[in-house]
Amino acid sequence: MGPKSAADMTQANRAAWNTGRYEAWQESLGSPADEAARITADPERAARRILPHLGSVAGKKICNVQGSHGRLAVSLALLGAQVTVIDFAEENRRYAVELANAAQVGVDYVLSDIMTAADLGLGEFDALVMELGILHYHLDIMAFFRVMGRLCGEGATLVMHEFHPVQRKLFQSYPDRAPNYFSTAIVQAPVPDPTGQDRVLGECQYRFWTLGEVLGAVLAAGFRLTAFQEHPDWTDPKIPGAYTLVADWRPG
Ligand SMILES: C[S@@+](CC[C@H](N)C(=O)[O-])C[C@H]1O[C@@H](n2cnc3c(N)ncnc32)[C@H](O)[C@@H]1O
Repeated sequence: MGPKSAADMTQANRAAWNTGRYEAWQESLGSPADEAARITADPERAARRILPHLGSVAGKKICNVQGSHGRLAVSLALLGAQVTVIDFAEENRRYAVELANAAQVGVDYVLSDIMTAADLGLGEFDALVMELGILHYHLDIMAFFRVMGRLCGEGATLVMHEFHPVQRKLFQSYPDRAPNYFSTAIVQAPVPDPTGQDRVLGECQYRFWTLGEVLGAVLAAGFRLTAFQEHPDWTDPKIPGAYTLVADWRPG
């Protein structure tokens, strides 16, 4: 059965992201000290999907939306940015804080539902960055991008590298779901196991959005689109696997 409300969906997804996640990061990425050593050796690599769209990040105030284990945040901090992660999962926070400490950088990790984060007085960011599995946790992406606008300072840049809906809606199999690009159904499926063992570390509820819905929500919130790129799927380069959307915050 799907969620009754956005709050139900958030509660279910938070529980899933707090099920064995710290150990799963340790198993897949290694200890925070080992992973910090790898990122420190080449911070541009961990930020490669985002960096080409930001120019120099040194001194910029950057928010990593739903930043999970903190790899992107730590890489940006190593490059001189002042980074805040907003994510609702304590087990992610634990790994990320240990990662930042081991890399000897400061990252502010705010444990919050992103939908209420603009009420926390975090100030206005120069850039918002997010990647690989963000929007399908939200039942209302119009509201999500309005929150993004509230986190932006004037002229801020939004960089989003996200899974492509053609891949997610037409080529990825989910229980009891035939491929349907325009489906608005809530899909219940295990949260990804980063170790590749397909263990069930809790079940998430997902709403997959079409490209039109995403672009419409970004524009309606008051962002100005400056770039949009599609990227081949990692395993089947004949289909799109991801896209990068870049936009400026220049409301009315
Ligand atoms: C698939 S991960 C994002 C991928 C991550 N950036 C990476 O590169 O691995 C999704 C993240 O969204 C977070 N999340 C999901 N819904 C959220 C919400 N409503 N508020 C805050 N964080 C949320 C989860 O805790 C998780 O860290």
